[in-house]
Amino acid sequence: MSGTSALHDARAMVQGARRVVALTGAGISAESGVPTFRDAGGLWRKYRVEELATPEALLRDPRTVWEWYDHRRSFLATCEPNPAHRALARFFLRRGTGGLITQNVDGLHTRAALEEAGDRAPNAVLPIELHGAIARDRCNSCGVRAPGEPLGDSLPRCARCGGMRRPDVVLFGEALDGTSLARAQSMAASADLCLVIGTTAEVYPAAAIPWTTLHSGGHIIEVNIQTTSLTSAASIALQGKAGEVLPALLG
Ligand code: OAD
Repeated sequence: MSGTSALHDARAMVQGARRVVALTGAGISAESGVPTFRDAGGLWRKYRVEELATPEALLRDPRTVWEWYDHRRSFLATCEPNPAHRALARFFLRRGTGGLITQNVDGLHTRAALEEAGDRAPNAVLPIELHGAIARDRCNSCGVRAPGEPLGDSLPRCARCGGMRRPDVVLFGEALDGTSLARAQSMAASADLCLVIGTTAEVYPAAAIPWTTLHSGGHIIEVNIQTTSLTSAASIALQGKAGEVLPALLG
C-alpha cells in the first residue's frame, strides 16, 4: 500500500466529501481471480478482440463468440466478491446515496451489494454496469433481456421474437446503454470526489467519468497497483491492491 500519510489524507478527503462516485474496472476483481484485459496475462494480450468481442464477429461466427462468453460466464459464476467490492458496498450503504459505476460485466459489485444490504433495500448500492452483465442474455433484434443459460448444441433464440440472443455485454464498437451512461455522467458531474479503482481508464466513454467530476470542480483519488494516464490528474494516487486499500480507505 502507499504511504500512511497519503492514506490519511485520502481518508480525510472521503470523509469531507459531499457526494462521492466510484468508477471501477477489471483490477477491482483481480483479487477475486478474474483476469484483467491489458495487464501482463490480461485477456487482450492472449485473445484477438476482433475475433471475440465485436458485433462483426458475432454475425460472422456466433458460435465462437458464444463459446468464449459461455466459458467466461461459467468461470465468473465461481468467483466471489472480495474485500474491495464489500468495502464499496458498505460505504454506499452507509451514505445512502448511489454512486457506484463499473465497467465490469462480472456482477461481483451486485452480489456484494445484495449480500451487504441483507434486509435493507440495496438500491443505493447497486452499480451502474456500463458494459452490461455477462450473466444475462439480450435479444440482438428486439432487445428483450433474459437470464443466461449454459450454451447447448444450438444457439439460444429470443422467446419473444425468435431473434438471435447474445450475452448482454457491450461489444467493441457498440454504443453503451444511453440511460445508464446519462445517469453515470450526471452522478459524476454532481460529485465532488471520484474514486477511480483498478482501471487503465483508457476505454471511452467510461474513461471520461473522472474527467467530468474534475471539470466540475471535484477531485480524483486513484487506487491502482500501477500508474495510469489518470494518475497525474488525481489529487491522491494510492498505489496498492484494491482489496487492501479500499477497506483501509473507506472503513
Ligand atoms: P484493464 O485491464 O485495462 O486495466 C486493469 C487495471 O487494473 C490496470 O490499471 C491494473 O494496473 C489495475 N489492477 C490490476 N490488479 C489490481 C489490483 N489488485 N488492485 C488495483 N488495481 C489493479 O481493465 P479496464 O480498465 O477495466 O470493455 O478495461 C476497460 C474495458 O476494456 C473493459 O470494461 C472491457 C475492456 O475491453 C469491454 O469489454 C467493452
